[in-house]
Amino acid sequence: MAMKSITLITVLVVVLAATQAKAQRLPAIRLFNITGNVFCSVNGSIAVNGTGIIPPPFPNALVQLSCNGILRGLAITNRAGTFNIVVSPIQVSLNNLLSSCRLVVATPLSNCNVTLPSNGTLQAPIQLAGTTVIGLLINITQFVAGVFRLIGAQ
Ligand SMILES: *[C@@H]1O[C@H](CO)[C@@H](O)[C@H](O)[C@H]1NC(C)=O
Ligand SMILES: *[C@@H]1O[C@H](CO)[C@@H](O)[C@H](O)[C@H]1NC(C)=O
Ligand SMILES: *[C@@H]1O[C@H](CO)[C@@H](O)[C@H](O)[C@H]1NC(C)=O
Ligand SMILES: *[C@@H]1O[C@H](CO)[C@@H](O)[C@H](O)[C@H]1NC(C)=O
Ligand SMILES: *[C@@H]1O[C@H](CO)[C@@H](O)[C@H](O)[C@H]1NC(C)=O
Ligand SMILES: *[C@@H]1O[C@H](CO)[C@@H](O)[C@H](O)[C@H]1NC(C)=O
Repeated sequence: MAMKSITLITVLVVVLAATQAKAQRLPAIRLFNITGNVFCSVNGSIAVNGTGIIPPPFPNALVQLSCNGILRGLAITNRAGTFNIVVSPIQVSLNNLLSSCRLVVATPLSNCNVTLPSNGTLQAPIQLAGTTVIGLLINITQFVAGVFRLIGAQ
């Protein structure tokens, strides 16, 4: 019974908060969520390779969100080579993210495979992937990394 009341009160509070938020037209918190996979390859991508052969992942790689040369975010890839950078539109506008920002891997490619170049950086553009609205107050726009290609290796 007590449990039921608590649940009911919780529901009421949430509904009330939501109603108030709507009435006051509080702007939703906006976030940009950039995800991607880094591969142990000079040009790794799941999406682009028509051959169906996916190169191995690049774990523990430092991925930087670089916008006109300015560092806006950081992440380290997990064991599957996946990373996730969350930024606020206050830091980077949507247009900038798509036109002036790139994902740059600061860790040398040779770290995952010594036969690969130790100089140059893997770089990928950023692509819009859609919007996920969580509740009334949070608006998250999803972005994905394009193909990471090795730039500047000689
Ligand atoms: C960002 O996107 C990834 C992959 O879709 C997801 O796992 C993660 O929860 C998202 N983060 C936020 C804050 O939405
Ligand atoms: C990726 O690089 C390999 C080796 O340099 C090359 O054979 C292959 O065609 C490239 N694939 C793409 C999609 O660029
Ligand atoms: C595609 O597969 C080939 C092997 O056929 C591999 O050499 C290359 O790195 C892969 N490229 C991408 C973009 O995954
Ligand atoms: C390292 O790269 C070479 C050439 O790209 C490839 O033949 C080899 O299988 C790779 N080794 C590992 C452990 O992925
Ligand atoms: C880049 O690395 C290769 C070996 O992977 C080396 O032969 C070359 O001199 C290096 N280039 C520069 C500019 O450091
Ligand atoms: C979410 O934010 C985007 C821009 O970041 C905006 O275009 C869109 O209208 C917002 N959606 C909602 C439901 O607030």
